[in-house]
Amino acid sequence: MKISVIGCGYLGAVHAATLASMGHTVVGIDVDATKVDQLGRGLAPFFEPGLDELLQDGRATGRLTFTTDVAKAAGAQVHFLCVGTPQAKTSDGADLTYLVSATEALLPHLARGAVVVGKSTVPVGTVDMLRGILSRRPDVLLGWNPEFLRQGTAVKDSLVPDRLVYGVAGGRAAAFDAATGAPKAVTAALDAVYGPLLDAGIPRLVCNFATAELIKSAANAFLATKVSFINAVSELCDASGADVTELSEAMGLDPRIGNRYLHAGLGFGGGCLPKDIRSFRAQASALRVGSVDEWMGVVDAVNLRQRTRTVNLAHELCGGLGGRTITVLGASFKPDTDDIRDSPALDVAARMAAAGAHVTVTDPKAVNSAWMRYPQLRFETSVEKALEGAELVLLLTEWEEYRLLSPALAGGMVRRRVVLDARNVLDAEAWQAEGWTVRGLGRAFPDREDPKVTHFGCTSVAPANIPTP
Ligand SMILES: NC(=O)c1ccc[n+]([C@@H]2O[C@H](COP(=O)([O-])OP(=O)(O)OC[C@H]3O[C@@H](n4cnc5c(N)ncnc54)[C@H](O)[C@@H]3O)[C@@H](O)[C@H]2O)c1
Repeated sequence: MKISVIGCGYLGAVHAATLASMGHTVVGIDVDATKVDQLGRGLAPFFEPGLDELLQDGRATGRLTFTTDVAKAAGAQVHFLCVGTPQAKTSDGADLTYLVSATEALLPHLARGAVVVGKSTVPVGTVDMLRGILSRRPDVLLGWNPEFLRQGTAVKDSLVPDRLVYGVAGGRAAAFDAATGAPKAVTAALDAVYGPLLDAGIPRLVCNFATAELIKSAANAFLATKVSFINAVSELCDASGADVTELSEAMGLDPRIGNRYLHAGLGFGGGCLPKDIRSFRAQASALRVGSVDEWMGVVDAVNLRQRTRTVNLAHELCGGLGGRTITVLGASFKPDTDDIRDSPALDVAARMAAAGAHVTVTDPKAVNSAWMRYPQLRFETSVEKALEGAELVLLLTEWEEYRLLSPALAGGMVRRRVVLDARNVLDAEAWQAEGWTVRGLGRAFPDREDPKVTHFGCTSVAPANIPTP
């Protein structure tokens, strides 16, 4: 099958490479010439495990090409729209201008009977708006196929997704022939695209456009809710002396709850969850569904408060941030990606620098993307160099190499053995055994003062057990 993929960022590049690996002939189209050039040479323009290999395989077979020329989409039977839908500059809503311009640009190159399929995450009602644009081409069909891949595991998620969702005009009832049960055009085209996945038993759900749009938004809103729930509980733990890691472990063993996304810490960031919950909020507000609007507002506020709690705790651990030498482990918004869009780690680092601290940030993959955007921070690719002379170490992105960092080795580099593990992933006992003072968000530590006596985490007074240098 000949397929075009419009927009080759974190979603589109992986989608194009995956489709080529399934045997399709795929042309990836992007307006960014540098990205296209790199992809064309079989190199991912960002770090995503397994993507380079998939791109090189696609290139070797000749089935995967990239171009800036949208005319090269001509002749494809299915066109996937994978462009960005960032938060609008002046509101919580999604900016749909890239989607509109990509659709407009594609219009003259669509063959009769071609199927245009959206994969970008969009507010409910977007498909109706795009149908308006496509009404100039009544011979062309439209479908919506939201994407659930996660950066860091995007290749695996695309090759073995949890489910496939097809949004089609008229929903499930209209998707199949009433007499024979055979799928009609859009469903049949998507079945042909995803044949190997369907053969492997991946569930496929067919629904109407509004449902397909909302499934993705609601899924992200639920994940964000789970993270913010446990983070709100971590505040309660801080105030009461309970330990949120033990609490969430016990909660997660209940299969109705589950332990994924139930890990308290610095909270979520990146190019998706934050803008998606704000867009969900804006959709709810426009549709006058106040409960969802309020709910998402709280989820967002709890999430952002984790960053403030972390900065406050750093301030407390240093007895003030002015002039302090601080090392931050992690710059990407989560491990296994170099994406720094709305990175909680960089936000915290920048806020500590704004308060007068000398902040050095290290990251296994994201230093290159971060250093130009944050001139107020110092960057080091070597963890050892980054740790030199630190008065406080903050673990802000839980890369495996930071989880496994030797407290003895790290202790030899720093000036003071104090670590704020804002992802609650370190083996606290092992670090304490090497003489480190360890703090986390919502954690109970034996050397910590009774929180019922001294409210911890939000004062500017250094705790008695932390010597002020
Ligand atoms: N990143 C993820 O993990 C993920 C997962 C699921 C869904 N999504 C959704 O997928 C969409 C894309 O996200 P992303 O992270 O890949 O964004 P991105 O910014 O990495 O990629 C978007 C790409 O679209 C290109 N583009 C913009 N206008 C174009 C046009 N007119 N023609 C061709 N290319 C154009 C940009 O140059 C860019 O390369 C968003 O709606 C996002 O919410 C992302």
